Amino acid sequence: THKLIVDVDTGIDDSLALLYLLASPEAEILGIASTAGNVPVEQVAANNLNWLALCGAPDIEVALGAREPLVIPLRTTEETHGPQGIGHAVLPDSGRKRSVRTATDLWVDLVREYPGQLTGLVTGPLTNLALAIRREPDLPSLLKRLVVMGGSFNYPGNTTPTAEWNVSVDPHAAKEVFDAFSVVPAHRRPIICGLNVTESIEMFPEHVRRLAEAAGSTPEEIISPDDGPDVRSSASNSVIRHMSDAIRFYMEFHREYDQGFLAHMHDPFAAAVALDPSLATLKPATVDVETESPLLIGTTVADWVGHWKREPNADIAVSTDPAEFFDRLVHRVGNY
Ligand code: BDR
Ligand code: CA
Repeated sequence: THKLIVDVDTGIDDSLALLYLLASPEAEILGIASTAGNVPVEQVAANNLNWLALCGAPDIEVALGAREPLVIPLRTTEETHGPQGIGHAVLPDSGRKRSVRTATDLWVDLVREYPGQLTGLVTGPLTNLALAIRREPDLPSLLKRLVVMGGSFNYPGNTTPTAEWNVSVDPHAAKEVFDAFSVVPAHRRPIICGLNVTESIEMFPEHVRRLAEAAGSTPEEIISPDDGPDVRSSASNSVIRHMSDAIRFYMEFHREYDQGFLAHMHDPFAAAVALDPSLATLKPATVDVETESPLLIGTTVADWVGHWKREPNADIAVSTDPAEFFDRLVHRVGNY
């Protein structure tokens, strides 16, 4: 099994990453750190608690992270993820409380408790992890492996022409984290899943249909692109119903930006890679982040060929087989 700490800014695709892990028998989630990003951090924590309760895993600890990025003010993106970060879904209130530990404490306590055994998955800004490394500078060496969804490598950004959202929200944190991981040996280099690979993971209504069918929904219960803006999924399986309402919002968003009625599965892909790195082709590089220039702030730069004469500090995902990813997603999440 994989012992995991998951740091998320839930978020529609973060939600699906959580569902993927919860449905994976080899994943043992020891704690969830909530980070400010897609929506404010209190809302992220509430979304995490509500998904866990809905999925029958109410005992997993959910910690609250920093309210603001390290240096620059927080930006959120309700237009991408919906007013509460979960699209059209309205989750029942779990009534559960978040942990008394902060997200920083959670990271530090868990790596100390499970040295060399813990996989860290970050699918939001890297603020919590940067703060945890300030507190425990040995964290990069204590972690078994870090997997990050973030950045964009030789590929356009989705927030500025060159910057990806998670890094763009807290570029200073991303820089601190990548710098800190330059000490780890090659087999423990962080795996970075950037837009260059995650935008190849395109979820279409057909995939949602397959998922819902796998979970026992009838064809009438399943959303279709032509159903119109106000139609909610009626799937009897509540996880599938809320998931499809969340994803439909994400597809509407992508359509508005002329990308088609589809949704990029950035974070679920990173989750799948955390459980099985062989899903992606990886290429070592030295990664750095621009934190100053108004034109390029938040841009990730990869040195693939040694210009900087610095050892690689990351393994960058450069390609994958999207069909294989979707088979795994349907097989797992369809089991709810
Ligand atoms: C990332 O930005 C967020 O909006 C998504 O959840 C994903 O983690 C993609 O750039
Ligand atoms: Ca995210």
